[in-house]
Amino acid sequence: MIILNSIQDMQKYILQEKTEGNSVGFVPTMGYLHEGHLSLMERAKNEADIVVVSIFVNPLQFGPNEDFDRYPRDFERDKKLAEEAGADVLFYPDTKEMYPDKPVVTVSVNRRTDALCGKSRTGHFDGVATVLTKLFHIVSPDKAFFGLKDAQQVAVVRGLVDDFNFPVEIIGCETKRESDGLAMSSRNVYLSEEERKEAHHLYQSLQKAQSWLSNCDSGETEEKMIKYLEEHTAGTVEYCKVLSYPELLPPVKDDKKLIIALSVRFSKARLIDNVIIDNILEKQGSEEEKCSVI
Ligand code: PAF
Repeated sequence: MIILNSIQDMQKYILQEKTEGNSVGFVPTMGYLHEGHLSLMERAKNEADIVVVSIFVNPLQFGPNEDFDRYPRDFERDKKLAEEAGADVLFYPDTKEMYPDKPVVTVSVNRRTDALCGKSRTGHFDGVATVLTKLFHIVSPDKAFFGLKDAQQVAVVRGLVDDFNFPVEIIGCETKRESDGLAMSSRNVYLSEEERKEAHHLYQSLQKAQSWLSNCDSGETEEKMIKYLEEHTAGTVEYCKVLSYPELLPPVKDDKKLIIALSVRFSKARLIDNVIIDNILEKQGSEEEKCSVI
């Protein structure tokens, strides 16, 4: 595996690979790699000739009161893991390389951001879309791989690629989970021992919500999820939502896919999780089976 720090070297390398007819699979990350990232690299390895992984903690996607400074970083560990997972190139630019100056132009996301994380993380998805615009130009991938734990990010990235006609296929990959169901995340290291023990209830609530949705409407299902999480965790529920996917609007019977998504804030970690399901609202139960929220 080779490590490249400069944009120019990265572009030169890719040009050479493309000239030789090799396809490029790309896994953009902010480092502190876990099994979820490694599974994206394995998938990329199967679907492209060369795999490029980027590690860049992008300041543009963190709000002033968010965890940019304390975001976990461990380059030596990441380097070893990426190499073992079969990455061919690790692109590891510093902030000066990516943003030598305050950007003249940034990308502004107009839809799919009024709900879920976009609602409270003002400017977050503008920062994600801006850095990915740069990274897609630098790496010129044929395919780019993203974890569906960040399903709103995948919805925004698909919009970015469609609207700006990037010649890249976006592949959303299933969320990797710990054995108790907790979605893998670089931020799980922030959980205290007690919080880690109860964190599996996040996924439990998503599974329960799927069965509640067969008799309850989306609002009632959201209320039941909040109640369940408040009873089973010490975290503060930021949102529990049932929405259309990928538009992230209040669901209607014609929607093909729904997302059930949640965010819970623990003492030092804000965790998110979701499931994406076929729309089951039209198959809801009869009057007799109606949902009871209390
Ligand atoms: O999902 C992430 O790690 C980041 O949002 C990404 C896609 C690497 C952009 O900085």
